[in-house]
Amino acid sequence: MSEQRNESVVGSKSFTAVAINCAAKAGEWIKTKLGAYSNLDLKYSSHDLVTEVDKGSEKMIRSLIRTHFPTHSFLGEEGVEAGPEASAQAIAQLRDEEYLWIVDPIDGTTNFVHGFPYFAVSIALAYRGEVIVGVVYDPCRDELFLAEKGKGAYVHGKRMQVSKEATLRESLIATGFPADHRYALPVNMKGVQAIAPQVRNLRVAGSAALHMAYVAAGRLSGFWEIGLNSWDLAAGALLIQESGGQVTDTAGSPYHLGVRHVTASNGLVHDELVAALGAAGAAE
Ligand code: IPD
Ligand code: CA
Ligand code: CA
Repeated sequence: MSEQRNESVVGSKSFTAVAINCAAKAGEWIKTKLGAYSNLDLKYSSHDLVTEVDKGSEKMIRSLIRTHFPTHSFLGEEGVEAGPEASAQAIAQLRDEEYLWIVDPIDGTTNFVHGFPYFAVSIALAYRGEVIVGVVYDPCRDELFLAEKGKGAYVHGKRMQVSKEATLRESLIATGFPADHRYALPVNMKGVQAIAPQVRNLRVAGSAALHMAYVAAGRLSGFWEIGLNSWDLAAGALLIQESGGQVTDTAGSPYHLGVRHVTASNGLVHDELVAALGAAGAAE
């Protein structure tokens, strides 16, 4: 722990200050590019988009982190080959590093491309496999969600708390439509079919990291999705845990950096959500 504390002031900036600085700088730049990107490429499928802004954002974040913490490891979405296998392999190789920064330079690229103002920069720092700092920044609303392990989670400087709904019937739940249409989408569709009639309503807004931040902030009761990556979830998982909520895989086992099928909630509706997904054959 003391080792962790000493490292955190190298270059006189704390881990958290650097994470905030990176997310804010990248987010401000991304916002200037809204409706003004110039290259759109497809990655894993025709549903998996990337622009030069995703790449530029990651480059900016990586070089800022390297300036402050040159010995730390870095995992960014755009540095990994597309597709679920390569993503799973990348985190498996790096998850036990001493300090690992896990970055999604734009979570919600499809929204960014269409000018739908719901996307975020997600930055997490893990210490020996455990997330210790998480920042999700929504540049369109200028909302920065921040958590430090053991110190709570904040938005606009105010402590966040998960919502109080105690049943699925009174819950607002979010999910996603994954880019992997071979495996993940059909499983998630089974979940949508099963969960929609059981809840107050469903939202599918297109950014897993922001959905997780909204669970932490008490704006959503829960969230689940099949086939996500470490960079979609790491920061959001800490936000929720530090706001009193619960994060597991869709089978109900505790969250770790390798989780790809996630269930996150205010804690009160967690077992009911996990059970409903399991009963629908929608947990994996
Ligand atoms: C995507 C978003 C989306 C989710 C997809 C993710 P990206 O991330 O989080 O909400 O449904 O599964 O891949 O590609 O915009 O970084
Ligand atoms: Ca993402
Ligand atoms: Ca992304």
